[in-house]
Amino acid sequence: MPPTPLSPSLIATLPGASYTDPDVFRREQERLFEAMWFCAVRSADLGGPGAFRTVQVGRESVIVARNGAGELRAFLNVCRHRGARLCLEESGEVRRTLRCPYHAWTYDLDGRLVAAPHLAKMPDIDRAAYGLVTVHLREWLGYAWVCLAGEPPSFEETVIGAAVERLGDAASIERYRTEELALGRRITYDVKANWKLIVENFMECYHCATIHPELVDVLPEFAGGYAAQYYVGHGAAFGEDVKGFTVDGGEGFGTLPEVTPEQDRRYYAITVKPTVFVNLVPDHVILHRMFPLAEDRTVVECDWLYAPEVVGSGADVSHSVELFHRVNLQDFAVCERTQPAMASRAYRAGGVLVPSEHHISLFHAWLLEKTGGSGA
Ligand code: FES
Ligand SMILES: [Fe+2]
Repeated sequence: MPPTPLSPSLIATLPGASYTDPDVFRREQERLFEAMWFCAVRSADLGGPGAFRTVQVGRESVIVARNGAGELRAFLNVCRHRGARLCLEESGEVRRTLRCPYHAWTYDLDGRLVAAPHLAKMPDIDRAAYGLVTVHLREWLGYAWVCLAGEPPSFEETVIGAAVERLGDAASIERYRTEELALGRRITYDVKANWKLIVENFMECYHCATIHPELVDVLPEFAGGYAAQYYVGHGAAFGEDVKGFTVDGGEGFGTLPEVTPEQDRRYYAITVKPTVFVNLVPDHVILHRMFPLAEDRTVVECDWLYAPEVVGSGADVSHSVELFHRVNLQDFAVCERTQPAMASRAYRAGGVLVPSEHHISLFHAWLLEKTGGSGA
């Protein structure tokens, strides 16, 4: 059946197979998640020397640990002896070393091989050469971003550049001092949908009036559906009677100290491809990290970050968290509702983007360029 001709208002989406085909997902793992900077853990989750977390990055398990000097390091979670996974836990704390539970090869927190049974009897072993495989790591916004590529792409261009492209300059995001904020709440969502459906959903507001009543009450321009929020430098203004970015528009917390009057009472959304969304509002920052685990499953970890005084004082952030938590539930429900249809013959050629969604085709073009095909 030939594809239905599109009218000028409509642009084709990716075909359904892009969201269901394991080969497409594998290419995305190789060329996106294992090749680009991937936001892995919040730095403050690793309290002191010896704290570690393990995260799934593409097909690899990665250990992020704080070394003796208090700096973050990242390694592949694979023992260099015969390959046992070093850490099975999602998080933990060791004293000074990571010890493989199989034959007890032991690595310090900079990844060096420091001990192994009978190591002294094998003086020819180059301990440096058999250290853990290190992974590139950068910290930004208070998160550790890792990159599995031998030669990572420019962090400035591919990560910070996304904020600059959206906000017009780097200073605008820096003023929220995200790296100094404290974690008010973390909610993890296990979404039965392809990660691209979540990105596409986040990029458009055509659905806002239908599924986000609370959000539209706070940000009335979202009711229009046009992605005005995506014009460079534009943040969606709070409604006149709205006091704060809370579930009923009631009072939030004090505006973060360096946020400018132009940024106050506005909401900015930034997509840092491939897996991060940052939402900036005057009194907090909401940061989503996606962990695409399969073509039809994505775990999303969402952090609500507030001024340290707010969290330190034990203030109740529920009212504030509830707004975007509802938005998340509303968004993920439609993503899950969409995922099964990706395998339907009705969607073999894909769907369509209306004008207020046309910019999503730039994401599709970027994907095709990076992964070399849609699998259709
Ligand atoms: S596999 Fe790790 S010590 Fe042997
Ligand atoms: Fe939404």
